[in-house]
Amino acid sequence: MARILQLTLNGRARSDAISENVLLLDYLREIAGLTGTKTGCDGGECGACTVLVDDQPRLSCLTLAGTIDGRRVDTVESLLNDGRLSAVQRGFHEKLGAQCGYCKPGFIMAAAGLLRRNPRTSEDEIREDLGSNICRCTGYVKIIEAVQHAVALCSAAALP
Ligand code: FES
Ligand code: FES
Repeated sequence: MARILQLTLNGRARSDAISENVLLLDYLREIAGLTGTKTGCDGGECGACTVLVDDQPRLSCLTLAGTIDGRRVDTVESLLNDGRLSAVQRGFHEKLGAQCGYCKPGFIMAAAGLLRRNPRTSEDEIREDLGSNICRCTGYVKIIEAVQHAVALCSAAALP
């Protein structure tokens, strides 16, 4: 059965006809055309599909799109500001926090959510908050350093 989904997606209001059982991940990639959000395990295990719903990290592979009606959803595409990288994106870029990059949209959105909630977050909080995101090709040291660098950049007034 079809329904109308209304939401604010990356800062813009939109509405789309969707089927009741479409996942948020599929809505974003196939209907909204936002392919930055990645499909990994497709089962709630890897975090590659993480987006923010009202600033809270959400696994889009486990979320029915219909349940976010009226909410604010941000994907990795939302982070560029007038062509400038956000603090978290700069953190990963400048601290070499990626290899193949496939997991990075999920890590970046999880970190962006954490920094929106607490721009001065600690290393322990970073480790705990990003603990359910999996990277299959880097060690996690660079990833933690990348988010710590983003924290430092936030102190210098960049956006998460
Ligand atoms: S694809 Fe959603 S948690 Fe892995
Ligand atoms: S950089 Fe390749 S899976 Fe994380």
